[in-house]
Amino acid sequence: MKIAIIGAGSGYMPGVVRGLLHRAADLAGTELSCHDTDADHLDLMTRLARRMFAARGADLTVSAHTDLAAALDGASYVFTTFRPGGLAARHLDESIPLAHGLVGQETAGPGGFLMALRSVPVLLEIARLAPPDAWIVNYTNPTSIVTDAVARHTGARIIGLCDQHVGDTEMWAGLLGLPADRLEADWIGLNHATWAERLRLDGVPLDLPALLDGLEVPGGGATPWRDPVRMVELGKTLGFLPNSYAKYYFFHDAVVAQLREKGVTRAQEILATMPAYYDGVAEQARRDDPDPSRERGGGEHGEFAVDTICALHRDEGRRVVVNVRNDGAISSLDDDATVEVPAIVGRSGPVPLTMGPLPRPVRGLTQAIQSYERLAADAAVTGDRRLALQALLAHPFVRDKATAESLLTEGLAAHRDHLPQFR
Ligand code: G6P
Ligand code: MN
Repeated sequence: MKIAIIGAGSGYMPGVVRGLLHRAADLAGTELSCHDTDADHLDLMTRLARRMFAARGADLTVSAHTDLAAALDGASYVFTTFRPGGLAARHLDESIPLAHGLVGQETAGPGGFLMALRSVPVLLEIARLAPPDAWIVNYTNPTSIVTDAVARHTGARIIGLCDQHVGDTEMWAGLLGLPADRLEADWIGLNHATWAERLRLDGVPLDLPALLDGLEVPGGGATPWRDPVRMVELGKTLGFLPNSYAKYYFFHDAVVAQLREKGVTRAQEILATMPAYYDGVAEQARRDDPDPSRERGGGEHGEFAVDTICALHRDEGRRVVVNVRNDGAISSLDDDATVEVPAIVGRSGPVPLTMGPLPRPVRGLTQAIQSYERLAADAAVTGDRRLALQALLAHPFVRDKATAESLLTEGLAAHRDHLPQFR
């Protein structure tokens, strides 16, 4: 069995290696075919992986490739986890919208749109080169648009992943004083725009509106990924759980002010830590039993992806929240929309569970985001400027045509090296 890892030089790779180690027994004999465009980072991460596998006696082999076709050759699973253009491109995605008074974010809004334009062509190339029966297990953002583009425009099999709901469920468990490992939430909607009206403890439904009613707004605790104060304020109003990315929609102007005040983008913040991060990984890769930093993707990220691959490969028929073709799972969205829902994952792929309608207070918003995502996917595949403009106009952040036109012109120029479809 062969798993291709595309983006294996990424800072998230130590977490992926940990995820593989935690399922090493189930994956015994597997070859990890690692690819990256950055040969130095690829070399570092594959050395680290070999060391970590050897130290734990894991029967996993590692090969390194800078040639995409060679990496994909014979793969049963293709795990995609890269940022086209890296953090430098992400900085542009975050700063261009902000200059127009809009939230600048790597996946939400016009920033995510620009990232989609770069990610989709690479994923289409991977889908073309991968064995036709391979499963693409995709983390590359924006995962819903990428998954949608590949699913509707190629014959490839793809599942879109995001581990956000794992950490969000943990956050709510903490806030509600409930044990996270016994909680299950029905997160439904679109990636980074999901909602949970149903929450169960040991399978028993909880009265969520009552729980939220009784909840006090916490004093702080914001991280780059989560903002408990805003989420509790919003949850109390909605009566159900919002995904942490809901802050970009419901606190849009306050977030813009905050981003402006901060003065540096998230990409710049991360870039500043990268040299020391990679030095630390290099130091660990020389040890007999490496224990690299968990700073990037150290939590659920790697395990969630490897567990999903295992669910497919071992026909586990397990419930996993994935991005997949709707097919009626969410009655408020088109059948051919790519949605994020709980699905039963086994050898023949994910089968989404029937979830009913979206909650009324966010139904229109989610439908608008879905229209945007679909137009964005088609624009990213075709390089059609009119579709690209329609996509931006459909996005809830964008309120006028002139803004959409400037965003598009600036975005296409800034990223032109990564946008072959628009040339
Ligand atoms: C969360 C999201 C991911 C995103 C990541 C960015 O985990 O679910 O989709 O890529 O945050 O984190 P960063 O530390 O790079 O800002
Ligand atoms: Mn995500």
